[in-house]
Amino acid sequence: MDRILIRGGRPLTGRLAIGGAKNAALPLMAAGLLTEERLVLENIPELADIDTMASLLLEAGLTLERQGRRCAIGGRITRTEAPYDIVRRMRASVLVLGPLLARCGEARVSLPGGCAIGTRPVDLHLKGLAQMGADIRLEGGYIDARVAGRLHGAEIVLPFPSVGATENLLMAATLAEGETIIANAAREPEIGDLAACLNAMGAEISGIGSDRLTITGVARLHGATHAILPDRIETGTYLCAVGVSGGEILLEGGQATHLAALIRALGEAGVMVEETAAGLFARRMGKLVGVDVMTEPYPGFPTDMQAQFMALMAVAEGAAMITETIFENRFMHVPELNRMGARINVHGASAIVRGVGGALSGAPVMATDLRASVSLVLAGLAARGETIVNRVYHLDRGYEALVEKLTGCGAAIERLKG
Ligand code: EPZ
Repeated sequence: MDRILIRGGRPLTGRLAIGGAKNAALPLMAAGLLTEERLVLENIPELADIDTMASLLLEAGLTLERQGRRCAIGGRITRTEAPYDIVRRMRASVLVLGPLLARCGEARVSLPGGCAIGTRPVDLHLKGLAQMGADIRLEGGYIDARVAGRLHGAEIVLPFPSVGATENLLMAATLAEGETIIANAAREPEIGDLAACLNAMGAEISGIGSDRLTITGVARLHGATHAILPDRIETGTYLCAVGVSGGEILLEGGQATHLAALIRALGEAGVMVEETAAGLFARRMGKLVGVDVMTEPYPGFPTDMQAQFMALMAVAEGAAMITETIFENRFMHVPELNRMGARINVHGASAIVRGVGGALSGAPVMATDLRASVSLVLAGLAARGETIVNRVYHLDRGYEALVEKLTGCGAAIERLKG
């Protein structure tokens, strides 16, 4: 298994390009199931999770033509099953459920299990679809969903603004009969991107960007071309990278719009971020100080930035309290950061980080999910000596050319094969 070797202690300087958002690309690819015509997606990142979603679409009988960052999806659905072998690799596989059911009247999707960051049920997806007329059974580890004729509109009030449930229900509602309202919908920018693409395909969605989406179902959707928005979490990760390492970098294509909560916290901590015509410019200003943050649904501080911000706080001066409210088990990076000399105590949903006010010390480490893994890479950049991050396949799921991008900015980082 590949590993990443980092020799820490070098400031970052230079520029790197931000790719398309993984978490927008995945539902957008699933939206390809909603039409027989070609859906052309531009700015698709090259990531393992994208390959997994591509396998699901191929499994359903669709054709995919990938040319660099462009992917054309089209063709007829010949199979309405998402098999366990693929779904177990990625929970977002469940996003094919709504489109398949709305389009074909049936879908059989393996139940995604729990995962390292929490139990992550899909009950909200299923309840919403049932409200739209689907008959849903759970059998043999699979979700078996059927509807006679079309789904129908419904007023769905989500008890929690789940990103995936909002996306699944939104896609299903585009082809339902009548009007669907999704109240307390998640407002993550990736949902706005999905809704914009669906409207370009002929859907009638209003309230985009708000917590109340209204969808008037149409009989069919047509093809469209859509460019995926830049990855805000990749952007935020490199902002934290320059924070831990020092120096200054330009993130080409990066946008501040969707990162307000993080940029505010970074500013208080001592990392200046400025939007320029060429992208986001970031610089560490003198000493880092501890800042408390709490993860919340968008527009709050993103849970997908919690681990990286913790790596930054680990090297700051003073204490920071980091509270995780979205997932129940998203502190797996803590023991590994502590092995590198960080001083972090977890109590329930909060972690107290007593910043060491200087470098950590390099060590072999590993993590069990994507954002936790990248936080260890950041810690490695800020550490004396060598850090080896094991289980690189987590990073391959969500960070395109991580080693190359950091090397281009002066980091001493390399991928060790085997
Ligand atoms: C999306 O996951 C993202 N994934 C996650 O990114 C991200 O961490 C998360 O949203 C929160 O922002 C994709 O977009 C592909 P949720 P999702 O449904 O949709 C509970 C990354 O690193 N819940 O908003 O699965 C759930 O257990 C990843 O890129 C239910 O209880 O997140 C969790 O505690 C990881 N029942 C909370 O809601 C449900 O039916 C938030 O989940 C659905 C969710």
